[in-house]
Amino acid sequence: MNKMVLVAGGAGYIGSHTTVELINAGYDVVVVDNFSNSDASSLEGIRKITGVEPKFIEADCADKEAMRKVFEAYDFQSVIHFAAYKAVGESVAEPLKYYHNNLVSFVNILELMAEYGRSNVLFSSSATVYGDAEELPVTERTERKPATSPYGNTKQMSEDILRDTVRANSAMHGIALRYFNPIGAHPSALIGELPRGVPNNLVPYITQTAAGVRECLSIFGDDYPTPDDSCLRDYIDIVDLARAHVVAINRMVEGRTKESYEVFNIGTGRPVSVFELVRGFENANNLKLNYRVAERRAGDVTAVWADTTLANEELGWCAERRLEDTLKAAWAWEKAVRGL
Ligand code: NAD
Ligand code: WQD
Repeated sequence: MNKMVLVAGGAGYIGSHTTVELINAGYDVVVVDNFSNSDASSLEGIRKITGVEPKFIEADCADKEAMRKVFEAYDFQSVIHFAAYKAVGESVAEPLKYYHNNLVSFVNILELMAEYGRSNVLFSSSATVYGDAEELPVTERTERKPATSPYGNTKQMSEDILRDTVRANSAMHGIALRYFNPIGAHPSALIGELPRGVPNNLVPYITQTAAGVRECLSIFGDDYPTPDDSCLRDYIDIVDLARAHVVAINRMVEGRTKESYEVFNIGTGRPVSVFELVRGFENANNLKLNYRVAERRAGDVTAVWADTTLANEELGWCAERRLEDTLKAAWAWEKAVRGL
């Protein structure tokens, strides 16, 4: 059994946590990253946590000849593709930057996999493909809505590219994991999320506000048709999310897939409001957060959370970490980053 995995974008937030869980599960990991949204500190964190130095090549996945060298050098059977840009607003302002990086990188990797006879592909998709869903919770059969940003469009297009590729190539298998809202950090506080500039996402904004880097958290809207008038999301712990990649890779490596292309929602199955999350952070860490209610943010959907039955039954995976522990880990990581 080939236990080597290429992790493209493995120095990033989700990639670094996944690399740790793969190493813990006995996989030999090759990381490729161009550090466009990360740095070498995450590789050092992986080494400290696992005691293993992951093989690392600095390369741009959009550079096919650079990627060819990676395929020549290592005989991995499986690839996890995290290497993409992910800022929704920036993708609206600079669509070609997103279409180029996210699509060319993925097509290069799929072409090289077919050429070198590598079989298993795991793709980082997103709940963003559901848009403003009519039925909640969303199942994998819930209709995808037309994407509202170029970023979201790259996720839909990449899912379709993967589906068509593996259906046309009987030696290949593809799994798309649709992540809901990944949050938190490794309990060691040695790796975590490193947003550049002002964070777009709620939890890094909360932790930076608690650390005094941001003055005040804005809660975007308290006039939504939800129990406490704020938006509902499905916040999934980063270590639970990382473990989902290991079971999905196991499924392909062990030949247990039921179809050449499969899709799984990766969330907790539990909706949590913005106010609940803020209170949860305050209670878990015994502190008070400076926040105010602001206008709605353009493009936000009222509510989205996952039906995780398929992942529970088929992957044998479910979210395990308690929200309180996740929010403690998020704060421990922010303190470690700031030297607090
Ligand atoms: P991240 O930015 O921390 O990680 C992405 C990594 O890929 C970074 O280390 C970056 O340097 C690298 N990278 C980007 N383009 C590259 C290229 N062309 N060649 C080589 N390396 C490249 O982001 P993340 O949060 O870890 O997200 C990982 C994946 O999961 C992305 O595809 C993202 O769209 C997807 N996703 C993220 C979320 C989320 O909320 N974080 C939710 C759903 C899906
Ligand atoms: C969560 C909630 C905000 C910041 C995004 C992407 C999605 C996926 C995950 C990649 C919302 C509220 C936020 C703040 C706030 N990424 N909020 N104040 O928007 O659900 O999803 O990340 O695929 O594609 O769109 O996540 O963390 O930005 O927001 O009140 O300063 O927190 O309105 O209700 P979102 P988020």
